[in-house]
Amino acid sequence: MDTKLLFQDAAVFATPMLAVFAVDIATGKDAEPLLALLTTSDAVTDAAAKVLESGEFKATVGESLLLHAPNGLKAERLLIVGLGKASGLCADEVRKGAGTAVRAAKPREVRDMAIAFPEDHALSDEHLEELPCTLTARALVEGAELANLDYDTYRSDRKDRSLQTLTVIAKESEKSTMAEIHTGFDEGLIVAAAQNFTRSLVNEPGNVLTPTVLGERAAAMCSEMGLKCEVYSTAKLQELKMGAFSAVAQGSGEPPALIVMTYEPKLAKGQALAADAPVLGLVGKGITFDTGGISIKSADGMEKMKYDMAGAGAMIGAMRAIAELKPKVKVIGVVCSAENMPDGKAFKPGDVVTAMSGKTIEIINTDAEGRLVLADGLHYAKTLGCTHLIDAATLTGACVVALGILNVGLFSNDEATWDKFQQAIKSSGERFWRLPCTDDYKDQIKSQIADIMNTGKTRWGGAISAAMFLKEFAGDTPWIHLDIAGCAWNDENKPWLAYGPTGVAVRSIVEWVRSYDS
Ligand code: BES
Ligand code: ZN
Ligand code: ZN
Repeated sequence: MDTKLLFQDAAVFATPMLAVFAVDIATGKDAEPLLALLTTSDAVTDAAAKVLESGEFKATVGESLLLHAPNGLKAERLLIVGLGKASGLCADEVRKGAGTAVRAAKPREVRDMAIAFPEDHALSDEHLEELPCTLTARALVEGAELANLDYDTYRSDRKDRSLQTLTVIAKESEKSTMAEIHTGFDEGLIVAAAQNFTRSLVNEPGNVLTPTVLGERAAAMCSEMGLKCEVYSTAKLQELKMGAFSAVAQGSGEPPALIVMTYEPKLAKGQALAADAPVLGLVGKGITFDTGGISIKSADGMEKMKYDMAGAGAMIGAMRAIAELKPKVKVIGVVCSAENMPDGKAFKPGDVVTAMSGKTIEIINTDAEGRLVLADGLHYAKTLGCTHLIDAATLTGACVVALGILNVGLFSNDEATWDKFQQAIKSSGERFWRLPCTDDYKDQIKSQIADIMNTGKTRWGGAISAAMFLKEFAGDTPWIHLDIAGCAWNDENKPWLAYGPTGVAVRSIVEWVRSYDS
């Protein structure tokens, strides 16, 4: 999509469809909705006045209403898009609203549209706190770009209804300068392209996206973006003594891929990063298909396990955005990719494997494979010099049971890193819920045979047992673990996002990395 930013009055812009945001300014619990548009254009306000008064439209998030031939406007259609209650409105509603606008246009075969930048000063301060304008611009662009993607590329009856051009129409004001809006707009394009790249990787079926192909896609992205990328396979895993990762990979005809992407900030001549500057390690679970291995999964819903590389996808996407946003901090992305299959060479329950760190692991269940590949990935990232670690993985069904599909499960061994993460992600609109991984849970993964075992003694708190396992390999290094099993796949079409991969965590990981910009 060709996305442009234009400073103009929305009323005089000729377009097949102009979208404008509406909010409910009524206060009080049971008050009837009282609607207002976030625009200072009188002509747009007049064109929408009658229908807003009618009560037919409530301006809830995800709701939209279309008017043809709106009076006094150059646009052929006016789409009014709800953002919900004015009080407490934040950029995330704008992200969803922009997505709703795009997804309302697509089935109508509208290929070019415009969205009026929400002007918070159209309302008095009593109704709406200020929307930070850079963040709002960014969220708007992200929402629109994310919404424009539909995962129907494998359908022969596909009709490409993607928008071709989107024009964001803004007005400069005391509160919003052109430069601020521009900054947000540009960042939005970068971050959304990265998140869409992640989504496209996660959408690929397991027969297309093997570990080798994931390595090729990552390498192609890195060469396009100017990142260093190394892709290794079986021999390197053996050389590094990655016994846990190798065990998972050995039951598949597809060779594993260890993908290492490095971003080094370019500093001005004479400048250097401090010797004790942080090095961030982004570690992703890249199981391109999880059958469960010898502890095979039931057939029901197994097809979805192609998304078991969503953590890897998130890290590859995040590296793409980092390469473009250029924060002054070194970042290393480590992806451990394999297929978990049950063939004659597959690892088995009862096997004991030795991880790269030297820890021995008793295999109880071969379906708990994600923690095994990450164990070696986390340890390897430390040997590469990472001082802070974050991992993302579709790790446990238990996390989905605990938190459902709206919150990512988050674990950390370090309060300062958790605080920093919380601060950094305020603008991402993604939700995380911290779960415990205190040492008293360690008993769960004690083995009689080896140092630890790869599942909990009981099935209770399964997401925690998995995190406790990873914590063994993070050691003293500040670490955050994101269990994205519930949030990486959207099981139903939303007004602002298509069915399929969500690209969750990309935006938050990127913001976390930027918070270390020196
Ligand atoms: N990839 C799955 C986790 C998963 C399950 C994600 C369901 C999304 C939905 C992971 O490899 C797995 O199978 N975990 C097991 C662990 C168990 C054997 C301790 C699980 O969650 O059942
Ligand atoms: Zn599994
Ligand atoms: Zn898995």
